[in-house]
Amino acid sequence: MKTIAIISQKGGTGKTTIAVHLAVAAEQQGKSTVIVDLDPQASATSWKDLRRADTPAVVSAQAARLPQVLKTAEAHGADLAILDTAPHSETTALAAARQADLILIPCRPAILDLKAISLTVDLVKLAGKQAYVVFNAVPPRGSLVEEAIAAIQTYGVPVLPATLAHRSVFMHALTGGLVAQEFEPKGKAAVEILQVYRYTCKHVRL
Ligand SMILES: Nc1ncnc2c1ncn2[C@@H]1O[C@H](COP(=O)(O)OP(=O)(O)OP(=O)(O)O)[C@@H](O)[C@H]1O
Ligand SMILES: [Mg+2]
Repeated sequence: MKTIAIISQKGGTGKTTIAVHLAVAAEQQGKSTVIVDLDPQASATSWKDLRRADTPAVVSAQAARLPQVLKTAEAHGADLAILDTAPHSETTALAAARQADLILIPCRPAILDLKAISLTVDLVKLAGKQAYVVFNAVPPRGSLVEEAIAAIQTYGVPVLPATLAHRSVFMHALTGGLVAQEFEPKGKAAVEILQVYRYTCKHVRL
């Protein structure tokens, strides 16, 4: 089983959005996937409550229980665990980072988000794990991503070559317990998610 932790200390960067979209992408590719929801706000768990499909599994857990929860998931045959973490909790972020084969750091390409990323980068470096920044909610037009990539270079963390644009379908799909690639299978969001999924698989050798 491979474990991907989605971490950013800043709120609202897209952790839960990316966690549920990647989990469904993995299931669509035949990988048995569990989302471990480490956020007391329980957004991923609430999404699952709205969802009709049985997969992916979503387990709400506390950081202290994470190693045990992952062992159980593996024993039940999971191929992939995706850890959705809470903002503003160094304990949770570090616990998730320690268990991860790969860390994704969602970041909006905006100056305040770029400045706030240093705390997350420090945590990730402390855990000594492979990590990539994923730019999320990128405006469809403009050169923000190029500027953001240049700004991120000072932190020494690579940027995933796939980004997610700002699209209302990423938000709307979740309200019905779906994800964008289910809501609009031929849409641009579906293509973007598949690209993020493929790069992620490559880095964890899934
Ligand atoms: N690519 C996107 N396009 C449009 N809206 C987005 C996108 N990504 C996220 N959002 C919206 O931004 C808000 C925050 O996203 P999300 O809940 O995934 O962030 P988070 O990092 O999990 O937040 P928190 O830190 O509170 O857990 C949500 O309303 C979500 O629907
Ligand atoms: Mg969240």
